Amino acid sequence: MKELRPHPKIKIGASILAADPLHLEREIQKVQEGGVDLIHVDIMDGHFVPNLTMGPFVVEGIKKAARVPLDLHLMVEYPSKFIEPFRQVSGKGDYFTFHIESRDEPRRVISQLREVGFRVGISLNPPTQAERVEGLLGEVDLLLVMTVNPGFAGQKFIEGVMPKLRHLRSLSPELDIMVDGGINEETVPIAARHGANIVAAAKGIFGKKDPAQAVRDLRHLTQENFLAGSDPATVGGRH
Ligand code: DX5
Ligand code: ZN
Repeated sequence: MKELRPHPKIKIGASILAADPLHLEREIQKVQEGGVDLIHVDIMDGHFVPNLTMGPFVVEGIKKAARVPLDLHLMVEYPSKFIEPFRQVSGKGDYFTFHIESRDEPRRVISQLREVGFRVGISLNPPTQAERVEGLLGEVDLLLVMTVNPGFAGQKFIEGVMPKLRHLRSLSPELDIMVDGGINEETVPIAARHGANIVAAAKGIFGKKDPAQAVRDLRHLTQENFLAGSDPATVGGRH
């Protein structure tokens, strides 16, 4: 197996936004059989994005079924407001990922999240410049580079985000960098080549006949393509 240099661990997140809402437990079991690393939960407030999804009530149920950490992806205007309600229904090792475009002061949100023990993720939308998050990379556990404009599952992967992803990877060779949006077997090699070591997918997993196999396929493709063909001198390496 080719491996150019040590790199952050490849992880796969299954976004339950495309799971059968009447059978979430069964759906979560299926992806766990495929070795999924994270259950990605898309939380939308109807303001930050034009869609409403789930709150702590549903997340509490998901948490009971999950044997792997949750990755709560908050697409909300005021993330601070939701830290406590979600803390009550989640646990050690779970991520709380919020957007740099939200209205709360990011450093404050990060310290509030640290105080209650969440792992911290920061996300940026496709049109948002990398500079907005560069100063925060040392303070977070996860950077989520959106590859669609958030709001819905099943949208088309925006390849124009790739130079930004590559740039952010070059700044942070060891950081967990996730992509989310339009990820499937065709697009995942592109994202991995540009430096994503974590991929989240909704339709690309739950939209398939065999979600467990879809998880394995995404892992294999991410592993095979992670920074493939890039120059270690420009991307940096782990020592
Ligand atoms: C988009 C959400 C994504 C979405 C991905 O707003 O943040 O997590 O569920 O869906 P797919 O993988 O179908 O594009
Ligand atoms: Zn998401």
